[in-house]
Amino acid sequence: MSRQATVHEAADWPSHGGQAAALLKRFGLPDDHVVDDVSANLNPLGPPEWVASWLVTRLGGLSRYPSPDYASARQAIAAHNGVQPAQVLLTNGGAEAIFLATALHAGGRALLLAPSFGEYARACSAHRIETAENVLREPHFAGEMADLLEKAANADVVFLCRPNNPTGTLIPIDAVETLLAHTRETGTQVVVDEAFIDLSIGVEALTPLLKRYGHLVLLRSMTKFYTLPGVRLGYVLASENIVATMSHHQPPWSVNHLAAELVAPLLADSEFARLTQQWLASEQPRMGKALLALGLEVVPSHSCFFLVRPGVLQRERGVTSAALFERMLYKGLLARHTHSFKGLEGSWLRLALRDESANNRLLKVLHDCLC
Ligand SMILES: Cc1ncc(COP(=O)(O)O)c(C=O)c1O
Repeated sequence: MSRQATVHEAADWPSHGGQAAALLKRFGLPDDHVVDDVSANLNPLGPPEWVASWLVTRLGGLSRYPSPDYASARQAIAAHNGVQPAQVLLTNGGAEAIFLATALHAGGRALLLAPSFGEYARACSAHRIETAENVLREPHFAGEMADLLEKAANADVVFLCRPNNPTGTLIPIDAVETLLAHTRETGTQVVVDEAFIDLSIGVEALTPLLKRYGHLVLLRSMTKFYTLPGVRLGYVLASENIVATMSHHQPPWSVNHLAAELVAPLLADSEFARLTQQWLASEQPRMGKALLALGLEVVPSHSCFFLVRPGVLQRERGVTSAALFERMLYKGLLARHTHSFKGLEGSWLRLALRDESANNRLLKVLHDCLC
C-alpha cells in the first residue's frame, strides 16, 4: 500500500489516542521507532509521587471483595464537591459513567455534539439509542443554540462535554442554564461530561446547578488529572433518585479495591492540585500563542489540549493535517489524529500540553515539519 493511500484511508484508524504500535505499522515504521506521545490528554505532573508506594501498602485488601457501596470513597467525593454521598456513584473510569448514563435511556433518543468524545455515540449504540447531532461548526466550533434547544426537545437525553474534547471549547454557563430550563419542560435529561474540568482554565464546574436542576447529571473522570488511566476511576454526580436508578445498571464491585481506596487520598492532595494549576496557568496560554505563531490554525481552548491544523498558506503548500501527522510521527512525536471524531474526519490534529521542555520539543518539531 502506498504511503499516500495509507494517509487517506480513514476507516481503520485506532479509535482512541496513543496506540503507537498500530500507527507505526500503518506508516511502515519499525516497532522500535521511538515516539513521544502528545495524543493523550493526561496531566504531565502525575501520577502523584506517593501513589505507587501507597498502593503497595494496600495490596492486602486484594484478597477481599471491596465494600459494595464504596461508602468512604463516595463520602470523600461528596465532601470534595459539596454534595451528599447519596448523590455520588463511583465508577470504573469516566467511560463507565458514560455507559451508565446512557443505560437509563435504552431504546430512546439522544442528542450529541459533533465533534465530541466518541464514547457517547458508542454507548448510545450499545443501548440501541437513536442519535441526532448538534453540529459545532469550524473554525470556532460553537454550536447553534436554537438548533440545540429544538433538537433537545425531541431527545430523552442530551450529552454535552464541557470543556469539549477534542475542541477544548466551552458552552457558556448561561447557555447551559437556558438548555436546563428548556429541557426541564420537555422532560429531557442533560448529561454533562466534566472529565477535563480540573484541567481547565477559568471554567466553573456545574456542581452548584445540581441543587436547582434535578435532571442534570455530571460525569467526572479521575484519569486525566491524576494521570491514572490504568487505575480506572470516575464518578457520577446527580440527584439521589438518578444515582439510585443508575446504580441498578452497574455490575457489582465494578471499581476494584485499590482504585476505591485511592479516591480519598487523591482528593486530599491539595499540593498536587496546586502544582497542576500552576503548570496549566503558565503553559496553556504560552503554548496557545506559540502554536499560533507557527502559522497553525488553533481552536481557542479552555483545557490542556489544542485542536490545530496547518494554516491556509501551509495547506496550499501541501502541508495538510495528514502530512503533518506523518511528518511528526517520523520525527518521533505522536499527535492525536481526528479520524474517529465525527465532523472532523482527520482534518485537524489534537495536541496535548505537557511540561515546559516537552512542549518546547513539540514546538521545534512542528516548526521543522511545517517548513
Ligand atoms: C471527554 C472524556 N470523557 C471521558 C473519558 C473517559 O475517561 P476515563 O479514562 O476515566 O474512562 C475521556 C477519555 O479520553 C474523555 O476524553
